[in-house]
Amino acid sequence: MREGEKVINESKQGEALVLDNTKISSKKLYIESYGCAMNFSDSEVVASILDKEGYATTRDASEADLVFLNTCSIREKAEQTVRKRLTEFKKQKKANPSLVVGVLGCMAERLKTNLLEEEKLVDLVVGPDAYRDLPNLIEETNGGNKAVNVLLSREETYGDIAPVKLDQNGITSFVSITRGCDNMCSFCVVPFTRGRERSRNPLTIVAEARDLFEKGYREVTLLGQNVDSYRWNMSSKGVIQDETIPTTNFAELMEMVAQIHPDLRIRFSTSHPKDMSDDVLHMMAKYDNICEYIHLPVQSGSSEVLKKMNRGYTREWFLNRIEAIRRILPNTEISTDIISGFCGETEEQHKETLSLMEEVRFSFAYMYKYSERPKTLAERKYEDDIDEKTKGKRLQEIIDLQMKHQLENYKKAIGKTYQVLVEKPSKKNPDEYSGRNSQNTVCIFPKENVKIGEYVNVKITNCTSATLRGEIV
Ligand code: SAH
Ligand code: SF4
Ligand code: F3S
Repeated sequence: MREGEKVINESKQGEALVLDNTKISSKKLYIESYGCAMNFSDSEVVASILDKEGYATTRDASEADLVFLNTCSIREKAEQTVRKRLTEFKKQKKANPSLVVGVLGCMAERLKTNLLEEEKLVDLVVGPDAYRDLPNLIEETNGGNKAVNVLLSREETYGDIAPVKLDQNGITSFVSITRGCDNMCSFCVVPFTRGRERSRNPLTIVAEARDLFEKGYREVTLLGQNVDSYRWNMSSKGVIQDETIPTTNFAELMEMVAQIHPDLRIRFSTSHPKDMSDDVLHMMAKYDNICEYIHLPVQSGSSEVLKKMNRGYTREWFLNRIEAIRRILPNTEISTDIISGFCGETEEQHKETLSLMEEVRFSFAYMYKYSERPKTLAERKYEDDIDEKTKGKRLQEIIDLQMKHQLENYKKAIGKTYQVLVEKPSKKNPDEYSGRNSQNTVCIFPKENVKIGEYVNVKITNCTSATLRGEIV
């Protein structure tokens, strides 16, 4: 199981990530992140903005002056989780009326002021592009007022803000490279909650990654809804920052980050099958520190369903991209996202998803039942006509097949030796370490004489369907 993914898909884990940095201060911020890695990364930007206002983060909600939930709208269930969590803060607010409760992120953007009416205890509603305004908005809540800013921006990338690192291991980090999404997949709420796609200045990305490396981090994951469409054109942004790099595409950006240091591993998420170019694959092949792993969400194995989803590719195109990956990067593992029971999906079309899975044999998959989202193209154009039972049955078939493939793949790893970055003590056994190989599979091994942040070679001796076990050689 991939650790970074904990935050990418909330419904798998259902748990929130509680973030903190330890610092003595009179004002305390408690922040929970739901949904994808972008939200996690945004919470670090929020912490940085409020750090300058004298707020330190805490892991203990009961001592907080500010409670923020950075929320996700991707599926209905994600929103329900947040609403439930909000009711839990009711008691605390009753006991301490000066407590400010804020909803940030995608739910704030989707529901806007409605959220204040629906959730009476919420004081602040702040969309993903309005975090710089937080100090003013917090001020506005003085005396029990409500404050809202859900303006979306075409430019905001928070590029100049050095995030306050809230993750726990000090070894792996997310670095945001684009915001928003222009793709308009018919099932997806993200273009409505995150606004137009924009790329971040590559110089600020490299500076952030270099700083992380110097602080001891050994892995960065470059984040965007569609990293392949990353494009920075200095002049089009109106500011000529460095004339030596007039435009930068994703492959070039990856190279700039890879050149920081051979001991800094590079990952990225998410690739889009319609845009993933051979250039990117060749760049991955050129640098040993770019990990041999691609998350390439297919969503469905049926070209007709993909068309209705407005994904911009067919089954054949997707398989052509898989063929290119296998040819250019033979050791690379590919994971995916799949949706079951999209509007009008026939049994035949569902079977096409299963057969595509057989052809590709993904190393990992996030699998979901279709959840209709307000305002999306699918909501307006198609009927959500696959009943829950059928959606569930199809999803189970997809999960069963994926588990079978995963176990078979992992069994093949037994006897092989992988370079693993030591990330943290294993949750189950403090005498063991947990880390991932380049292909993003979690490896567990006895501690021996190594430290967190070092690279070790681990020979695999055993496996489950989610982890590899081995020993340092
Ligand atoms: N930008 C990424 C994915 C972002 S959302 C991409 O294009 O692949 C993460 C995943 O959530 C999607 O890949 C999709 O599988 C799932 N998802 C998005 N909207 C959904 C919906 N309405 N119902 C069920 N799953 C959905
Ligand atoms: Fe949503 Fe599609 Fe954009 Fe991914 S590419 S965030 S699925 S609209
Ligand atoms: Fe959720 Fe928003 Fe991310 S809807 S998946 S938090 S971009």
